[in-house]
Amino acid sequence: MKVLESAPDRYDAGIRILTLGRLDKAYDRLTSYIKRGQKVLDIGCGTGALTLRAAQKGANVKGIDVNLQMLEIAQKRANKMNVTQNVEFCVMGVAELDGETSESYDVVMSGLCFSELTEHELVYTLKELKRILKPRGILLLADEVRPTSLSKKTFNWLIRLPLVIITYILTQTTTKGVENLPEMMEREGFLIESVSSNKMGNFIELVGKKPEE
Ligand SMILES: C[S@@+](CC[C@H](N)C(=O)[O-])C[C@H]1O[C@@H](n2cnc3c(N)ncnc32)[C@H](O)[C@@H]1O
Repeated sequence: MKVLESAPDRYDAGIRILTLGRLDKAYDRLTSYIKRGQKVLDIGCGTGALTLRAAQKGANVKGIDVNLQMLEIAQKRANKMNVTQNVEFCVMGVAELDGETSESYDVVMSGLCFSELTEHELVYTLKELKRILKPRGILLLADEVRPTSLSKKTFNWLIRLPLVIITYILTQTTTKGVENLPEMMEREGFLIESVSSNKMGNFIELVGKKPEE
């Protein structure tokens, strides 16, 4: 979604049009796992779509992102929604997760950010999330993934091509769906509680848990 991030003011409207409002519903489902008083981290929080939902539920949320302009919009939205007392936004990338205290979060969540990370960053991030989550802590993810069947792969490639070209022209970067996200999570020691994918197989909602140990 880098093409939308190049114009942060229009990000929220753009994503709503592009996903036909389905992302909002996915985020509502994911944040239904969050409870009042929990300590929550939102990775790549952008304009605060997940952060603010969790804050409205009474959680104490830290939203981190590398894009200051996106965070400024998130902060303005938090002010408007009167949830500033339980949100904190930080300019911080996943590479700085090592500064977070071990076993300190009840929930970590992320929407549409893992697909912007390199495989190396993703593996590092999952390791760090396992470290900073409390035992039985929850990992909530919604992201673009690469379909597994050949027909869905081909269809996905065809419909994404124009977006990939426009994104590359505007930002000289691109995003690609994450490959084998549930398997990667399992490799890093998470238990998979639920996975649901859309019909095209290019978007999943995933609930994982750090084992008790
Ligand atoms: C497509 S946006 C999604 C924003 C928000 N989660 C949402 O769903 O509206 C992806 C966000 O991930 C952030 N991001 C990309 N790479 C990151 C990194 N290495 N560390 C932290 N945030 C990152 C981008 O700046 C961007 O705001």
